[in-house]
Amino acid sequence: MAKQEILKFPAGFLWGASTSAYQVEGGNVNDWSEWEKSEARMKKLKKSGKNPEDYICGPACDSYNRYEEDFDLALELNNNAHKLGIEWSRIEPTEGEWDMKEIKHYRQVLLALKKRNLKVFVCLWHWTNPLWLAQVGGWTNSQAVFYFSRYAKFMAAELGDLVDYWLTLNEPMAHIGFGYIRGNFPPARPADIFGAIKCFKNLTKAHIAGYRAIHEILPQAKVGFISLTDFFEPASKYNPLDWLLTILARHFHHRAFLNKTKKYLDFIGVNYYFHNKISIWPPFKINLNKKVNEMGWEIYPQGIYYVIKYMSQLNLPIFITENGIADADDDQRADFITEHLKHIHQAIAGGAEVRGYFHWSLLDNFEWAHGWTQKFGLYELDRRTLKRAARPSAKVYGEICKNNQVGVS
Ligand code: FCB
Repeated sequence: MAKQEILKFPAGFLWGASTSAYQVEGGNVNDWSEWEKSEARMKKLKKSGKNPEDYICGPACDSYNRYEEDFDLALELNNNAHKLGIEWSRIEPTEGEWDMKEIKHYRQVLLALKKRNLKVFVCLWHWTNPLWLAQVGGWTNSQAVFYFSRYAKFMAAELGDLVDYWLTLNEPMAHIGFGYIRGNFPPARPADIFGAIKCFKNLTKAHIAGYRAIHEILPQAKVGFISLTDFFEPASKYNPLDWLLTILARHFHHRAFLNKTKKYLDFIGVNYYFHNKISIWPPFKINLNKKVNEMGWEIYPQGIYYVIKYMSQLNLPIFITENGIADADDDQRADFITEHLKHIHQAIAGGAEVRGYFHWSLLDNFEWAHGWTQKFGLYELDRRTLKRAARPSAKVYGEICKNNQVGVS
């Protein structure tokens, strides 16, 4: 057997799993829940031979009610932190009116984390908008900045004593790309360049306003946002046009948002899933795809090292807020985790300030445009009974978290 090398992580390193409100809670009413049921979408799904039922979030994992059970799973994984979302549309179902019953609910949720001694990472916006905001144009409306900061301030006042790390926005560039360029997320406006530009402006301002609002209430708060940071590299190192395209991809996917917001960050959340070799020739991407996940996404663990190096330029603590794999058979997940951690460790050894890792996801959940077809969970979800069952990789991750180390060969 090949000899194993043990890689120790720094003392106090945070280990967790990540979820988002819409994908696990169930019963939410927002722009996503309405869009996914829309007649046009249903027709499209049926036409392509898909079962529309598989593309409706509905009760999700019922984590709205089963959160205690979920947090026990986090303990089973020997986690010392957990990342979850708050659903804006529950807190403010009507513009300017807070639902105090929901505040009470989220206090119970966060208390349940505290009771288990888990550090609490809360994300305030993970792509879903209250209906009243969607009806006035969502993030294309500049008022959205004010609405978001008012919500952030209210959350800081109501829940501040229970939150360790605040994440204002999840992957704002993905919302823009999918909602306004590709059109496969609500508001489903393909090639709406003006909409995309407006969203970009308002989302950068919303982060800054949210950052200030939280700090106004909680001067010591730690506030960041989550960047989906793909690793882009030129297909050929010797082709200046491949380089040019790579630099543009890096700029539009990561740098532009960071340039606007970097003075208003106490840390940065990094989600890493992709590697892309960029080529000037169509189809512009030529990944080798030696290993792919069940969605066809290339598995490229060394990419996380370069992404961390890139983000280290900010001189801020870094948390890997998402990293995971669609793998229903669970025959790749344990290696996926181990390999990514190996490269994270390498970055830390080189001086990077990575302070924690959150695996996506704690349990199978509603995977947006892919509905229920993709399985990212360390725990498998039986959609009929809502029972959660550990996949074998959960044990592997649990050992890593327990020992604060990973064994690599
Ligand atoms: C990320 C999203 C998360 C989940 C994973 C697979 O980009 O933030 O909600 O869908 O992809």
